[in-house]
Amino acid sequence: MRFWLLFLLSFNVIANPLDAGDVKLGKQLVEKNCIACHAARFGGDGSKIYTREDRIIKTPKGLIQQVRNCNTNLGLKWFDDEELAAAAYLNQTYYHLQ
Ligand code: HEC
Repeated sequence: MRFWLLFLLSFNVIANPLDAGDVKLGKQLVEKNCIACHAARFGGDGSKIYTREDRIIKTPKGLIQQVRNCNTNLGLKWFDDEELAAAAYLNQTYYHLQ
């Protein structure tokens, strides 16, 4: 009994925060606000920046943080759930971080 409770609790702690993001919303947000600049700098459809060998993002938290920094720098005024949505979309499509 106690074992299962501990198991459930620890599962909660290690669960990927990106699982809570709305991937569909994130796709719309990223396509509208983020791709043009990445494409201009990195060529193609801009997605190379997420898959390049020396990419900077290594963890789900890091990905959320990077989306947050971009949001702030660009003055997009996204809410937390929109940042999470964009991060979840990028993770599902490119990063595949656990
Ligand atoms: C004005 C140009 C510009 C815009 C707009 C922009 N980015 Fe970026 N982004 C960059 C550049 C340049 C880098 C590479 C930074 C580096 O190499 O240190 C980058 C890097 C990133 C990375 C990290 C890539 C890696 O190495 O893993 C992510 C994630 C990212 N951007 C997400 C976003 C999101 C989400 C948006 C939209 C809210 C956005 N960016 C909008 C220019 C832009």
